[in-house]
Amino acid sequence: MSMEQMIRSLREQMEQRISKIDSRETLSAFWQDYLGKKGSIADLMKGLGSVSKEERPAMGKVINEFKVQTEERYKAMSEKLEQLEIQARNRREAVDITLPGKKQPMGGLHPLTLVKNEIIGVFAGMGFEVFEGPEIEDDDHNFTRLNVPKDHPSRDMQDTFYLPDDLLLRTQTSGGQIRVMDQQKPPIKVLVPGRVFRSDSDATHSPMFHQMEGLVVDKGITLCDLQGLLDKFVQQLFDANVRTRLRPSYFPFTEPSVEVDVSCFECAGKGCALCKHTGWIEVLGGGVVHPKVLENCGIDPSVYSGIAFGIGIERIAMLKYGINNIGLLFENDLRFLKQFQ
Ligand code: DAH
Repeated sequence: MSMEQMIRSLREQMEQRISKIDSRETLSAFWQDYLGKKGSIADLMKGLGSVSKEERPAMGKVINEFKVQTEERYKAMSEKLEQLEIQARNRREAVDITLPGKKQPMGGLHPLTLVKNEIIGVFAGMGFEVFEGPEIEDDDHNFTRLNVPKDHPSRDMQDTFYLPDDLLLRTQTSGGQIRVMDQQKPPIKVLVPGRVFRSDSDATHSPMFHQMEGLVVDKGITLCDLQGLLDKFVQQLFDANVRTRLRPSYFPFTEPSVEVDVSCFECAGKGCALCKHTGWIEVLGGGVVHPKVLENCGIDPSVYSGIAFGIGIERIAMLKYGINNIGLLFENDLRFLKQFQ
């Protein structure tokens, strides 16, 4: 077989091989066999030595053409394989945008936090600032300086958890009044939200609950200011048509002291189960700050006067949302809590 014939058959063979290539491996084997150091084209080059001088240039040209053609085939196939690989990867990694998404469940605020924030929102609109005192309080702030001396019978109004060293779990946020007046001089307008503790537990009482104290001290503050303030408060919290009613009461730190009722927002005062057919619902306690309390904080009661009130947050939440058992607010049953989202 002449060299030319050999090249022709090698060329045919090469075209067949390249048409069958379907992977990087077979392509790499193709390169080895034709273009590698020990491949057919290298062999042909070596064989040139035995060709006659006259024929050598023409033969060299033919071999070279074969080489160039083989390289082109190799390059084209390599690019084709690369395209196929990209297509296959795209198919593998394709995202089905019609699939429904995975929902991340969202947390929400507890109803007591919602009510607390709402109360703060109403009073903040009237210029009140928020102050927070300690949950472990001393006897002095929780009782004595609030005009509840040791061994005074009014201490029995609250079942206190006592701690050693004259400390206790605060039974009311009222001690915050003392802490504020120790730090600030009038005019004062503060809210003191917080957790309070009493040894008491039934359908409407929990040993831990939340209060929101309010205190205003300035010149010429009277009981009328308290009623005006609370009217605005309950109208924003419950219903624009509700009114307040003050009933005489007793708290050691206020004189006069009042129990504040709102006209029933369920029945508009006609009488229903919520208001126990009285048309009124008790919502909080308050009064005119006792002169002794001002004095105990170095504020002259002949110049300044004040009003104070204490709101039970659980009670407001139960009224507002129609919750009949306080326990629901502390069990953290998601079926209950989700209703407030
Ligand atoms: N501290 C009282 C209680 O826990 C509530 C209260 C009544 C707060 C009258 C006040 C007030 O500031 O003036 O029952």
